[in-house]
Amino acid sequence: MTPQRHSAHLLGIEGMGPQAIIPFLDLAESYALLSRSRQAPHNVLRGRTLINLFFEDSTRTRTSFEIAGKRLGADVINMTVATSSVNKGETLLDTASTLNAMRCDLLVIRHAQSGAPALLSQKVEASVVNAGDGMHEHPTQALLDALTIRRHLGRLDNLEIAICGDIAHSRVARSNLHLLQAMGSRIRLIGPPTLLPSAFASAKNVTLYHSMEEGLKDADVVMCLRIQRERMGAGLVPSEREYFALFGLDQRRLALAKPGALVMHPGPMNRGVEVASTVADSPQSVISEQVEMGVAVRMAVLDRLLRMRSAA
Ligand code: NCD
Repeated sequence: MTPQRHSAHLLGIEGMGPQAIIPFLDLAESYALLSRSRQAPHNVLRGRTLINLFFEDSTRTRTSFEIAGKRLGADVINMTVATSSVNKGETLLDTASTLNAMRCDLLVIRHAQSGAPALLSQKVEASVVNAGDGMHEHPTQALLDALTIRRHLGRLDNLEIAICGDIAHSRVARSNLHLLQAMGSRIRLIGPPTLLPSAFASAKNVTLYHSMEEGLKDADVVMCLRIQRERMGAGLVPSEREYFALFGLDQRRLALAKPGALVMHPGPMNRGVEVASTVADSPQSVISEQVEMGVAVRMAVLDRLLRMRSAA
């Protein structure tokens, strides 16, 4: 197998500074406008092949990478691999060598093991995009969240961002933390002690809260997260009713944040568990816009990675 000869991959946000982040957001902004006016340029990825390799369930992420690729004219192949048939390391490398032989240009991978996309990036010639690896990172989610925030609040610095719920198992929380820290905002992580590792307390510009009432005060943005039962053992969370009573985002709690604070959720949403329907469907919710920006951000990522590669 030929080892990588370029570094045009998107494996995580950690280590990226504003100068690496902003160009993705700017290009995504223009793709969002072109998509709205149905004028996406179909020639940008014409003749290029994108393989979507999903070892874990996904609705929005897989579909939006597919739409993003097609909107730019790429040939898109979806491979959904049942988790049960994956035999860790060796199987992934076998898959990598097969995909390498097919000479695809872009490889989008979601995998239950942290580090799987990085491993793959060393083994294939394609540009690899991490679409979520275990509890590690989900970089395109953080970029689409940032774009959504920037469109509404006009900036990404000096904001108070509350991320609530199952922080421990969330790659979305980790990628968002890296991005928002890099851009100069402050992050409040709110959740029960079982779902909020104390190690986060030492991170720069991060404060931990075990009470929604305290953590939400004057926040500019409130992000809710799903409880990731598939990644945890038994006993970490009480009943769903009790969880909602303690950590659910309802109107009364949202009123503690700044007036007009944005309500966000990466999906899939569990209504009545981490967020009340009245909040998810309220005018303050930008959850549907996050999905729209997801396509625009993925168009920008695919486009830029291939450009960075040809420039290398
Ligand atoms: C998230 C994920 O898969 O990490 N979903 C997503 O990509 N929009 C969050 C989740 O599964 O709860």
